[in-house]
Amino acid sequence: MDKKNRAYMIEFSNKGDKRGQLVIIENGKEIPFNMQRIFYIYGSDKDVVRGCHANKDSEFVLINVSGSSKLKVEYLDGDSEIFSLIRPYTGVYLPKMVWKEMFDFSFDSVLLCIASTKYDENEYIREKHKWKEYEFLY
Ligand code: TYD
Repeated sequence: MDKKNRAYMIEFSNKGDKRGQLVIIENGKEIPFNMQRIFYIYGSDKDVVRGCHANKDSEFVLINVSGSSKLKVEYLDGDSEIFSLIRPYTGVYLPKMVWKEMFDFSFDSVLLCIASTKYDENEYIREKHKWKEYEFLY
């Protein structure tokens, strides 16, 4: 399958010196789409599961800029994988139409999400059985 249709990890430039670290993310370079929106998730308890949806039009890059969390990605062809978000200089690219769940948040987790679109609830699929109806695409 085309890499565009799979999630993958991205490592950002990390300019460290004795003063600390500085991570650089530029539109059109590390992010494989035109950034339109950022949002971030914090204060979620360890036993909370977030996400549980697919997006028809949006691509994302998710980065735990503080703390850690896990990300389960399911594909319409039946595959799935789990990413551990444990470093502030790595992100996970998420293509359109994957089912995603974020869980196992550390107490200090700040999960930064960069999106290719402005927010539109109509492009969210929030029921798994409805997402599975798109199996024919693959
Ligand atoms: P939701 O998609 O349920 O969050 P998560 O993916 O972390 O589980 O979003 C929570 C609420 O915030 C929901 O009412 C939709 C709203 N929201 C916006 O208004 N704009 C946004 O950019 C996002 C991501 C969510």
